[in-house]
Formats: sequence, structure tokens, C-alpha cells
Amino acid sequence: MRRNFFLTFEGIDGCGKSTQAERLKQALMDRHFSVTHTFEPGGTALGRKLRTILVHDELNMSLFSEVLLFAADRRQDIDEVINPALQRGDVVIGERFADSSVAYQGVAGNVGQERVERLMDIVTSGLVPDLTLLLDIDPRISLARKTDLDRIEQRGTLLDTVRHAFLDMAAKQPERWVVIDAARSVDEVFSDVLEEVLQRLE
Ligand SMILES: Nc1ncnc2c1ncn2[C@@H]1O[C@H](COP(=O)(O)OP(=O)(O)OP(=O)(O)O)[C@@H](O)[C@H]1O
Ligand SMILES: [Mg+2]
Repeated sequence: MRRNFFLTFEGIDGCGKSTQAERLKQALMDRHFSVTHTFEPGGTALGRKLRTILVHDELNMSLFSEVLLFAADRRQDIDEVINPALQRGDVVIGERFADSSVAYQGVAGNVGQERVERLMDIVTSGLVPDLTLLLDIDPRISLARKTDLDRIEQRGTLLDTVRHAFLDMAAKQPERWVVIDAARSVDEVFSDVLEEVLQRLE
């Protein structure tokens, strides 16, 4: 089944994006949808290189440079993966998109929400997800789930700010965003995820 649709998962580190995206991909394929699953940073060869820089290297990178590296990755992912998939008529499942830059570097990182939003509008050529599922969770719960904290995630105190940035964005655009309580079991969260997605696809 072909159905051009772009949905993204957003939420703080360890909220369950990869877990839910993988389950969703499988469930949609079982229902005969053509699905493309992408994630960032790292969905393309360029993205994988950028990811090693963003996550591991001690380059004393400024937050604005960080925004631009994420932006390069995102644009490459759009050109190489997302747009071709949408043109084929796939359902595209993304883990993180422009909203993460706005929340992390714009609001929590003080680059400025409006500035990052303007930059992202240029970087994406105005591509906006049809649906964004916000997996909302207290950072104290999600961080406890993870053991391999990377450079970005070590800024744990910022995650409360990021969480509330996402919630504010969701409240401002209720037609695009759905907030899902991600502090529950994988199955409970997934049941809400699938319901929200199928409601829009069928
Ligand atoms: N509902 C849940 N309950 C308990 N543990 C969970 C739940 N969902 C995911 N996990 C576990 O929490 C960890 C983080 O989950 P996952 O990798 O899916 O999050 P993520 O949002 O993709 O993280 P990141 O932001 O680092 O990409 C994993 O070990 C996963 O197995
Ligand atoms: Mg993940």
C-alpha cells in the first residue's frame, strides 16, 4: 500500500524513539505499507561522519556550529532519503527532525528559538512532518534507562528545559503534534503510537 506520509518521533534522550519507530515500522509493513525509516544524525554516509564529530570529538564546538552540522545532516537526509521516499509514496518514519534543533540548540542552548526556526525553514525548504509524536517523559526516568551517555546527553540538567520546549511547541501546533506519555511500558506506549498513526493513514 502506498501512502505518502511523513511522521516524526521527538522527545528527549532515551524517551523511546528508536524502540517505538522500529515497532511502528514493523506494524506498518505487516499492514502492507511501504515504509522508510530514517534517523538522525546518521541516516546517510555523510550523516554517519557528522555523527562521530557531534557525539564523540572534543572539538570545543560552539552551539551555533553544532546547529549547522545538524543542519547539514538533515539536508542530506532530506535529499538522499526522505524526499525520494515520499516521491515513491512511502510512509517515512523519522527519529528527530527540525524540531529537535529548535528545542535543543534554540531554546535550551540559547541560540534562539526564532533564529533556529528560520534556519530550519531554509534547510528543509519548508518540509514539515504531517504528524509529530512527542514521547514525553521526565528526564530522570529516561536517563536511568540509558548507560552510554554521549557528549550531548551529558548536559543532563538541560533536558528539563528541552522537555518543556517540546511541550510548548506541541501546544502551539496541536494539528501536527500528539503528546504521548512515554513513562509507561513499551507496549502501552506503542498502542497509543499505532492508534494515532493508523487513524491518519486509513
Ligand atoms: N517504555 C519503556 N520502558 C522501559 N524501557 C524502555 C522503554 N522504551 C525504551 N526503553 C529502553 O530505554 C532505552 C532507550 O530507548 P531508545 O533507544 O528507544 O530511546 P531513544 O529515544 O531512541 O534514545 P536516543 O535519544 O538516545 O536515540 C533502551 O535501552 C530501551 O530498550
Ligand atoms: Mg534513538
